[in-house]
Amino acid sequence: MPLVNVFGSKGRLVLSALLVCAVIFELAYCQKDAPKQRPTAGRKTKPSKPKPEKSTNEGSKAGTAKPKIKSTAAAHAQASLTQVLNRGKFKKVGETISVQTGDTLELRCRGKPVKWSVPSYLEEDDDGRLRTVQHERYGVLTLVNSTGADTGEYACYPMYCEDTDCRKEYDKAVKVFVFFPDPQELFVPSADYYEVIQLRTNWPTVLPCQVTSPGAKVTLHREFPPVEVAVDGTEISFNVKKGFTIHRPRPHHAGALYCVASLGNLRQSSTKYMLIYVNYPMAPPAPVIQASSGSVVVGENLRVGCTVMGEQDVAVEFTWEYPGQQIGRPLYTQESVSPVGGGAARQQSQSVLLVDEVRSVDQGTYTCTAQNLQGAKSVSATVKVVPKAKPKKP
Ligand SMILES: *[C@@H]1O[C@H](CO)[C@@H](O)[C@H](O)[C@H]1NC(C)=O
Repeated sequence: MPLVNVFGSKGRLVLSALLVCAVIFELAYCQKDAPKQRPTAGRKTKPSKPKPEKSTNEGSKAGTAKPKIKSTAAAHAQASLTQVLNRGKFKKVGETISVQTGDTLELRCRGKPVKWSVPSYLEEDDDGRLRTVQHERYGVLTLVNSTGADTGEYACYPMYCEDTDCRKEYDKAVKVFVFFPDPQELFVPSADYYEVIQLRTNWPTVLPCQVTSPGAKVTLHREFPPVEVAVDGTEISFNVKKGFTIHRPRPHHAGALYCVASLGNLRQSSTKYMLIYVNYPMAPPAPVIQASSGSVVVGENLRVGCTVMGEQDVAVEFTWEYPGQQIGRPLYTQESVSPVGGGAARQQSQSVLLVDEVRSVDQGTYTCTAQNLQGAKSVSATVKVVPKAKPKKP
């Protein structure tokens, strides 16, 4: 089934992708009790307004305080984040905080100057709710009229400056994950009905079903057959700030998955994740080239073979360069994949370039390039074309 394995040549990869999309399309529209979506509230569907000049995005955005840029030892001081609560109360933040939807988030970060980073959707859609101001000794971030979609990581980076040249001190960043619990939306809304995620062999894969409430109970589900996926903390783990992580993807993880969050009487499904397993090779291919003969007589046929021994179900794509190419000599290739005996799960991929009735223009270097998802390697062979021996007199 096309959801599980994507292999074949590049052309077939594209075809498989199309098939997968067709399947996804069907799944998406056959599904009766489809997850509840509010695309209009989605992070990506907000109308993007013309952005104010990006260069003044930070620090001096509000135009009140100009950052003082000096080379000072104080710039090295450890930054710290404080949440400004109502009536001028301050609270040092821990790893996470919760701010009721609709309320204002106000963070203070010690440092002169500091830079802020916010969830990327807020950075992209500047709708005037986010302000950052730099004061003499600290920066302030204010986010008004908050919504569940604002849930995410907020970080402050102290800047190290020499004269007017400033850089972020990444190792001194202070981060806080802010939840904006939304009584109607347990998941951070997404504009997309489904998300396609590649599962690469042995690469951790994240299903970012982000909840707006830290207290929501989140489970992982497979659509067909409809079962809850076991989350054992080793093979698959859950983190309320990140979502589910599949640590070492295998083909059986592929398919259509979604998350379910429950809190109180509310139970909601996330956007759908279409997991496509891709057999990711360990290394680029190592092709071997061999011509049927190093010296061919005009009029005879030539075969040049290019062979790659590799891991099973890893697609290898072949391309050829040959002497007759310039003048548009029409050569053709035959490609094949065959399993190799033994328990090592290996396969041989081969492309054979066929030259019928060799002419003098076919003399020269034949180069085969083999490519997989990790890289490409070329190998060459030279072929000499010799004139026909004089026909014997009858
Ligand atoms: C915040 O919401 C109030 C009330 O709906 C509105 O008047 C105000 O313009 C909003 N502020 C911003 C910056 O969007």
